[in-house]
This record gives sequence, structure tokens and C-alpha cells, in this order.
Amino acid sequence: SKLSALEKLRSEYDDKRKLAVIERCKPFTLSDAQLNQVCGSMMRALKDGLRQSRRDRSSVKCYPTYVRTLPTGKERGNFLALDLGGTNFRVLHVEIGPDGQLKQDSKIYAVPASVMTGRGESLFSHLVDCIEHFAKERGLRGVPLGFTFSFPCRQEGLARGRLVRWTKGFACEGVEGRDVGGMLQEALDRRPGIDVEVKAVINDTTGTLVSKAWDRRNASVGVIVGTGFNVCYVEKASRVGGMEGEAGRTKEGRAEEGTMVVNTEMGAFGEKGELEGVRTEFDRVVDAASIHPGEHVLEKLVSGMYLGELVRVVLLGLREEGLVFEGRRCLQLREKGSVPTKYVSEIESDGPHHRVMAREILEEVGVSEPTVHDCATVRYVCRAVSRRAAHLAAAAVAAVARRVERSPVVAAVDGSLFRHHPHFARIMQEKTQQLLGPGTEVELCLSEDGSGRGAALVAASVR
Ligand code: GLC
Repeated sequence: SKLSALEKLRSEYDDKRKLAVIERCKPFTLSDAQLNQVCGSMMRALKDGLRQSRRDRSSVKCYPTYVRTLPTGKERGNFLALDLGGTNFRVLHVEIGPDGQLKQDSKIYAVPASVMTGRGESLFSHLVDCIEHFAKERGLRGVPLGFTFSFPCRQEGLARGRLVRWTKGFACEGVEGRDVGGMLQEALDRRPGIDVEVKAVINDTTGTLVSKAWDRRNASVGVIVGTGFNVCYVEKASRVGGMEGEAGRTKEGRAEEGTMVVNTEMGAFGEKGELEGVRTEFDRVVDAASIHPGEHVLEKLVSGMYLGELVRVVLLGLREEGLVFEGRRCLQLREKGSVPTKYVSEIESDGPHHRVMAREILEEVGVSEPTVHDCATVRYVCRAVSRRAAHLAAAAVAAVARRVERSPVVAAVDGSLFRHHPHFARIMQEKTQQLLGPGTEVELCLSEDGSGRGAALVAASVR
């Protein structure tokens, strides 16, 4: 009975800590009222971003892409595509046969950290090294190229885009403010024997949308929830400010006709303080230690580059308060980046009572012999952080879907979180629909491998 008294004490102690953990994670739960408010504020930011005269004041920039049409199905030929800006850098060969059969073949190349944050020239010459290697291996020459460059760009035409600023893990010197299409072309031209022309520079969201539209003509929104987070959509060209002429007007002053894909750069939402009611102390810690503090605020609450880090920071906070990992020093857990978002997906993939992954992963990050309470806490934190991410992503898609003014809204989605997290896609779909209400149907569909393929299809449209 002495033992059972001890056990009782222990379990009361655990119950108390459990309640305290739940309490500390509460700020990660967003009510429907909060989400509706965020969604409304996103809609206003989108509207401001579209108007040239207000863009500076808006956190959401809504850059014109100069992609005016989605694929018709008549595109044919051989294309190269580059995909830069996620975790991997890829070179692709896309071949659309005379019967419209699309074949692709790609290769992943590493972008060393030293190149990601080194000099711009080294980045572009590295890209050309990879293209050269790929093209030689496959005997390709004189093939047009589409460049998926997944950063905010002020486009000056389909093949010209000035990098506004780096986001995510990139910070190369001497590229911001310059035309990356032109820089790539110059680097290619310096290399004899490749003979490649850059036909289009597009964002990964645009690529994802275009690629989906090849099979589903009614797709009108593109979303990435991967390393970064962003949304694009098809807008009436007359509403898109900031092209060569005045807002929504051609150089000659005529109203723009037709449509245009808009790259919202939604990840930057919150830079004007719109998310201050949502962000937690833990978010501020993650932001302060990031490569671009104060920038792309929403992205840091939603995307794969930051979720694992957020979980890590929350866990360390809970440990400081004596709520988890008692008596362990957690040395590795103190290192920035020691919890990649992949772990969050793995931990949440475990069945509720099988804390196998949580245990394994904790041991991996240096928490030896985790208790049942430790594992349950880790899982709880992962769930709180990833649910909030899915809900905020849903608010952003709902805000964009409202502008599309049709039903159903078909959104093409790609990215590691959407693809690999066990619940993210479902939660995001449900919440987006709920926020939109019964009048508009929304369908989020996975667009695998879209961003590179999309660049080839856009290049094909300008032949
Ligand atoms: C970042 C980039 C954006 C990109 C997104 C997803 O938010 O700024 O251009 O689409 O990541 O990769």
C-alpha cells in the first residue's frame, strides 16, 4: 500500500502537470471568431495589395505574374525547367509529345548552405553548373527554359522578375533588386555549348496552379505549404495594379483585358501587425532567431521551415517551468534546428497510445528515457502547433477564394506539410470550407510535382 500511495501521488502530480501543459498551449487554439477576423483582415490586405497606390501600405503585395492564360492542352515540345526555393533544387526535362502526353524526368541537386547565403554570382554559376550537367547527360541543346524561382518578385514581363527580397533560408548578396531571369540568362550565355533561353520566371504557387490546370481546367488557385507558405490565384487583369501602365491599365491607357495570375506573397501577412493578437511569446522567439526577423510573419506560423522549431521552443519553455523532461539536461534540444518539421509529422502519425515515434525522436534529440508524460506532452505540443498552422492556412485560402467569385473553387496545393503531415490536408480542407460557408464549395487538391512542370508549361505558352 506504500507503493500504491506513491503511485497515487505520482499520478496526481502528472495530472497537474498535464493540466498546466494544456493551459500553456491554449494560445495556439484559435476560435472561429478569431479565424474569421483574420480572414477578413487578409481580404482587406489582398485588396490593398492589388492597388498600386496602396501596395506599400499592405503586408500582402499581390504581384502580377504576367501569366495571363492557363494551359489549353495544346502546348507541345521539349522544355527545361528549374525549381529553386524549397528544400531541394531540381532541374527537369519536360516533354509534351504530339498526342499531348506529358513526360518528365528530373534530378535533384544540392544547394550547399554556403551557396544559399553566399554571393549571387556563385548561386547563378552553381545553377548553370547543374543545368549543364543535366543537359549534357540527356543530350539536350537549344531547349527553352522555365525558371521556378520561389521568392517575391516584381515582374516586368514573363521572363523578367526583380527579386524584392529573399525569404526562407536564402540570403545571397547582390541579388535583391535585380532581374533574376536576366542574371540566369547571362550566366547561361557565359557558358559555351548550352544554348538555353530563359522564357519564363514564375513562382512555385503559379507553377502548381498551371500544372494542375493542365488536367483540371477549372483550377484557379495555387497554394504551397512547404518550406514556405504562399497563395496565387486568377484575377481579372483590370483589377491588378502595378503592371507597366497604371493600375489595371495598359501602357496606352486601355483597361487590361482578360485575366492574370496574381502572386499574393501571403506569407508576409502580419508584417503590419495584423497577427499580434494571434502570435505567442514562442512565435516571437522563433522569429527573432530566424534569418529574416520581422518578415513573412504568417509564414513563420504556418510553414515547414518553422513548425519544428516552434515545437522545440515551446518544449524548452515547458521544461523551464518544470512541466516536462524533468531532471534531463536536453542539450541537443537547445540547438536551433534540432527538431525538423518532418519529426512533427512523424510524431503525429503515431496512434494515440503508441508513442513510439515520440520516444524515438526524443531520444534522438538527447532526451534520454522519456516518460509517458514526456511523450504525451510532445505529441500535444505538435498537435497544437500544426492545427493552428492548418487553420491559418485555411483562413488565407478562404480569403483568396472569396475573390475568385465562383463555385467550386479548385485549389491546387503542394508542399511537404500538405503532402506528408497525417492530418494537415484534412484539417485545412475542413476549415477552409467552414470559413467560406455553404455558398461556395472549395476543393483543395494535391498537385504533385507541380512547380517544375508548371514552369515548362508556361515556357511552352510563349513559344
Ligand atoms: C516564400 C516565398 C514565396 C513562395 C513560398 C513557398 O513565402 O516568398 O514566393 O511561394 O515561400 O515556397
